[in-house]
Amino acid sequence: MTIPEVVRHEALKSWISEAADLVKPDEVVWCDGSEEEYDRMCEALVEAGTFIPLNPELRPNSFLARSDPSDVARVEDRTYICSLNKQDAGPTNNWMNPREMKNILNGLFDGAMRGRTMYVIPFSMGPLGSPIAQIGIQITDSPYVVANMKIMTRMGFPVYDVLGEDGEFIPCMHTVGAPLEAGQEDVSWPCNPDVKYIVHFPEERAIWSYGSGYGGNALLGKKCLALRIASTMARDEGWLAEHMLIMGVEEPSGQKTYLGAAFPSACGKTNFAMIVPPKHFREKGWRVTTVGDDIAWIKPGDDGRLYAINPEAGYFGVAPGTSYETNPSAMESIKENSIFTNVALTDEGDVWWEGMDGDLPAHAIDWRGNDWTPDSETPAAHPNARFTAPASQNPVIDEAWDDPVGVPIKAFVFGGRRSNTIPLVFQAFNWSYGVYLAATMGSETTAAAFGQQGVVRRDPFAMLPFAGYHMADYFNHWLHFGRNIKDPPRIFGVNWFRRDENGKFVWPGFGENMRILEWIVNRAHVRAMGVESPIGWMPRYSDITWDGLEEFTKADFKTAMSIDKDDWDAELLQHDELFIRLYDRIPKEMLAIKELTLSAMWRSPDQWEMEPDPT
Ligand code: GTP
Ligand code: SPV
Ligand code: MN
Repeated sequence: MTIPEVVRHEALKSWISEAADLVKPDEVVWCDGSEEEYDRMCEALVEAGTFIPLNPELRPNSFLARSDPSDVARVEDRTYICSLNKQDAGPTNNWMNPREMKNILNGLFDGAMRGRTMYVIPFSMGPLGSPIAQIGIQITDSPYVVANMKIMTRMGFPVYDVLGEDGEFIPCMHTVGAPLEAGQEDVSWPCNPDVKYIVHFPEERAIWSYGSGYGGNALLGKKCLALRIASTMARDEGWLAEHMLIMGVEEPSGQKTYLGAAFPSACGKTNFAMIVPPKHFREKGWRVTTVGDDIAWIKPGDDGRLYAINPEAGYFGVAPGTSYETNPSAMESIKENSIFTNVALTDEGDVWWEGMDGDLPAHAIDWRGNDWTPDSETPAAHPNARFTAPASQNPVIDEAWDDPVGVPIKAFVFGGRRSNTIPLVFQAFNWSYGVYLAATMGSETTAAAFGQQGVVRRDPFAMLPFAGYHMADYFNHWLHFGRNIKDPPRIFGVNWFRRDENGKFVWPGFGENMRILEWIVNRAHVRAMGVESPIGWMPRYSDITWDGLEEFTKADFKTAMSIDKDDWDAELLQHDELFIRLYDRIPKEMLAIKELTLSAMWRSPDQWEMEPDPT
């Protein structure tokens, strides 16, 4: 193995050489992160049948990949937090004794790359060399992962310069777990259909992933490093690593407000981060810009405010439902230089998915590689089909998106996918109530994770699958964090997904969410009106700008905002279930706030209604 000169870190060199001894690849390639390397990687992927080149006139420099049907989403039941103490992982994470787990992994990784190439990927989460960035080195036998990491992270040799001889890095071991024994033929999407392990060692700050080549299971900088490992670092060091988009809202006066918003997987972060305000707002001079669409690292600045950075460099976004109608900036971002996974292929050599603008194609090849027509009974694209696109291609990218200092956060928004119970928007009374709101968030599960879809589960802070330690300690960390900041960001709850008795969405959503966002921004600056409800402050009909959305009536607003006492009785019981699960470490504030909410609810009429509107 020849080690490039730029690598001067002895501990890193010996880790790589030990890893190579274990996984026994045919060859070790040190990725330099160059464009030429990316092109070579894509060519090799085309050769191997993993990538299908798209029509260069319709989708320049872009490729389609179809995964194995058993490898289409994150595998939460195979994801482990192997802290030394079981209690530190908490009841919401899978746990195994780290030594026992290492034994299993060492067995699985032994010879796992036989017949394959081991790539060494140096990457930075956050701007290279920035004091808030973290460096990871991932080994992998998946060239698909290499290509995706090039888009999703700051990847390349300059990372080794930053590391120098003794810098800190997070070792990330990844294999698809499909060695090619003597002369065996490869498949287009190698993975291990039977055995998968996504494992984190928080004390050692190491990641081992076996058996999957897909998304968050395999692009280890994303969920594994930037959320699970980073959340433990954040707890120890006094910052936050969150499953949040970061957006900038510029109002007609020119004032800019930055917000962080946490929605569970496939619940609209990418949409909201790139929201195009309705015509009335655009004409008045409102503009929204994207800092990030999935992950935020948030640290207190010297001025006592909170500053957020997006540690990623690309978008790994849900394709189905993305259109010029719902998210034009995402459509512009994926015009070229993009990778598409598990979408459909049109006869013209372009991509297609359910919800795209225009007519359905008369014929396409679906994500499994089979013929598809509008009469087919299965969807053309997998519901968790994704695009990988460089953030720099987003036409509404924020000018500070790459700034190592980050952007000052004025508000946090939390929102799940709830057909009922949760109103369109409400504001927590204060920081502790806000932590309660976020901690008890529920959401109907989506295709982003393997398993049953559409059942409500508690997803605290949209971090249930991503918190690297005990969830109750995580609540405590948030409570404590708020006590130490000046003028803490205001905290809001939203629900774009409420349905009426016919199952139709009550709220039009997407660009129209700007109307709610305006109220949120105004409240964050203590400018807008609101009324007190049992669960927080709420806007009256007259507190929202309705120009251009006259079809959404006052009665519709009432439905979208209603608080039903029976629904909330059931809701609060479910909060209790979560607290009982976390009983050993749950902060007492949570229990007190639950009691206060319950009593506020019981002193209200059956259907809580807003005060008569003055207008
Ligand atoms: P991850 O990347 O999985 O973390 O999720 P994300 O939160 O970025 O998901 P994304 O923005 O890609 O979510 C897309 C899904 O949310 C699609 O099903 C959209 O149709 C739906 N969606 C987004 N915004 C709205 C909205 O305002 N109203 C409704 N009804 N659906 C929305
Ligand atoms: C999510 O599931 O929240 C994602 C996609 O952002 S993945 O990277 O696959 O986890
Ligand atoms: Mn996500």
